[in-house]
Amino acid sequence: MAERPYIVGNWKMNGTRAMLSEARAIDRAAQRYMKVEVAVAPPYTLIHAVHKEAEQIGVGAQDCHPGVEGAHTGDINASMIADAGAKFVILGHSERRQGHGESNELINAKIESALEAGLRVILCCGETLETRDAGDAESFVLNQIKAALPLFGEPAERLTIAYEPIWAIGTGRTATSEDIEAMHRSIRELLNETYGEEASAAVRILYGGSVKPDNAPEILATPEVGGALVGGASLSAETFLGIVVGASESEEA
Ligand code: PGA
Repeated sequence: MAERPYIVGNWKMNGTRAMLSEARAIDRAAQRYMKVEVAVAPPYTLIHAVHKEAEQIGVGAQDCHPGVEGAHTGDINASMIADAGAKFVILGHSERRQGHGESNELINAKIESALEAGLRVILCCGETLETRDAGDAESFVLNQIKAALPLFGEPAERLTIAYEPIWAIGTGRTATSEDIEAMHRSIRELLNETYGEEASAAVRILYGGSVKPDNAPEILATPEVGGALVGGASLSAETFLGIVVGASESEEA
């Protein structure tokens, strides 16, 4: 694949200023693995501080409100996170869809607002175990993406897709290489149809769900896997960097 592998740490609701030393360690080490694009998405409260530490890694947010500024107590919009130093935003994560009832429609609006603010977007998709067992995983995931894509007025180059089967998130279970490859190929076909093959090639499709240093090499070597969205294992520089090293080696292989 033309683009470098993209390894993104999603810190979720973890991290106080004490975590800045981990961010610094990740950043310094990432400078040794230039064949890999490394990024972290800390909680809102740490975006600016991590941005100030970061010389090499990208810094992003885990969500944003779709609106402009105004009377939305407790919310933070795309231009605010961009102002804090974020370069990208993760949208449509299953924990937002399930825990906050986010619909594809809302995610679509968030994507538009993020692109408008100049951010890159990581759009998450993924099915439940019931959906997979019913044989509907592929159509479910493609529908999630299609529901967000029609209003994209932007070139594909600011888009990343993260396929994260819900049953693999934080559970220690990962999908098989065959399942990952099949889903990523279907997503690629959809992107080819939507953007044309040349523009689609700029869109990396990440895998997420219990990615760890020991399973990362196999996952990252799977065709059409352009990187990983990493939750739990991104909270320590040591384990996160273990995944970055795996990605770097897969580039050399
Ligand atoms: P996990 O989380 O690596 O802890 O499974 C991945 C994610 O939710 O992005």
